[in-house]
Amino acid sequence: MNVAVLGETLPGEHRVALIPAGVPKLEKLGCQVTVVSGAGIQSHFSNEEYREAGATIAPDVKTALQGADVVLKVQAPTDDEIAALPEGVVLISLLSPLTQPELIGRLASAKVSAFALELIPRITRAQSMDVLSSQATVAGYKAVLTGANELAKFLPMFMTAAGTIRPGKVLILGAGVAGLQAIATARRLGARVEAFDVRPAVKEQIESLGATFLETEEEVTGEGEGGYAKELSEEQHQRELELIAAHIVDTDLVITTAQIPGRPAPRLITEEMVDSMHPGSVIVDLAASSGGNCAVTREGETVIRNGVKVMGPANLPAEIPTHASQMFSKNVETLLKELVSEGELSLDFEDEIIDGTCVTHGGQVRHGPTKEKLG
Ligand SMILES: NC(=O)c1ccc[n+]([C@@H]2O[C@H](COP(=O)([O-])OP(=O)(O)OC[C@H]3O[C@@H](n4cnc5c(N)ncnc54)[C@H](O)[C@@H]3O)[C@@H](O)[C@H]2O)c1
Repeated sequence: MNVAVLGETLPGEHRVALIPAGVPKLEKLGCQVTVVSGAGIQSHFSNEEYREAGATIAPDVKTALQGADVVLKVQAPTDDEIAALPEGVVLISLLSPLTQPELIGRLASAKVSAFALELIPRITRAQSMDVLSSQATVAGYKAVLTGANELAKFLPMFMTAAGTIRPGKVLILGAGVAGLQAIATARRLGARVEAFDVRPAVKEQIESLGATFLETEEEVTGEGEGGYAKELSEEQHQRELELIAAHIVDTDLVITTAQIPGRPAPRLITEEMVDSMHPGSVIVDLAASSGGNCAVTREGETVIRNGVKVMGPANLPAEIPTHASQMFSKNVETLLKELVSEGELSLDFEDEIIDGTCVTHGGQVRHGPTKEKLG
């Protein structure tokens, strides 16, 4: 079985789908790995390291794809790459099926068996394949560093001959994977941290990280199916907004990570709340790509409103490419194990992970919601 690892062409994407340490793991499954020359260079993995790990280096995409059974990428393939994919090949990458249904249609027409990593179910058996979780961990960490870097203040407390500086205050909205990592990172930097989530189950986790869980007089809860959040009623949403408004005024750095699967990001910070903050404060909105938790956010931009910086970074994991790639690579490796049996590809659609993640097969779009979007 031949596995091809392609490089990334999306501007700002510095990750690679498989790192050299993953090559021997795939060899154990009966795979021969070919890597396009320079694919790992932006995440600091050289051709030499891939070669030493047992991979072959191909001079270009076309050569790497010759005879490939499986293709690994971080971002979706370009039109040129799709045109070069061999019929029947398995593609594993991020594909954003719901925001790019036409791309999924093109992959079906090209008779590719495409696996969208966003669709890995959040079940225990699939935890080690869960790219969204691993990359959200990276994003939560980097969001705090990015915000801290833009602040006009320190986060830790300083007791110096030049006086005492009180620790900065950080507010985290949404305490899922990214939010919990943001709390841990802000605490490591010595900040006072407050956090809120609509799932009461996370209170204990927030407190175990040394942060304060914000509570309302009347409970605001939105625990949905499978441990995910659901949308709040209008009344509960108003109560949440009042809580945030009361706490945001003296916050130096806000990190927002609130999301409800398949829905636009809940709007948690209004323009008035931004105006109530001190100039020099910073908001990092991780939900920028799904509409933003803050009314001022623009994806991929930093907006300055009355001296408050509102950042909507589009791809923070790509800014820590070595470790983000290491985690991505491990996720992909584990998924591949599910697709290979005795050195051969074997797609068992009875398996929840394969059934849920495979969006195109045999010339058809298999993913119901994408099919609906295509009409
Ligand atoms: N910009 C980037 O670079 C980047 C990278 C990775 C992830 N993300 C984004 O970060 C966000 C979080 O990802 P995650 O993996 O941590 O998701 P997650 O599902 O693990 O966590 C989201 C949390 O939001 C909470 N939530 C939902 N509605 C809320 C509300 N009204 N108020 C408070 N909390 C609420 C949920 O209960 C959940 O705990 C997503 O929008 C994701 O797309 C961005």
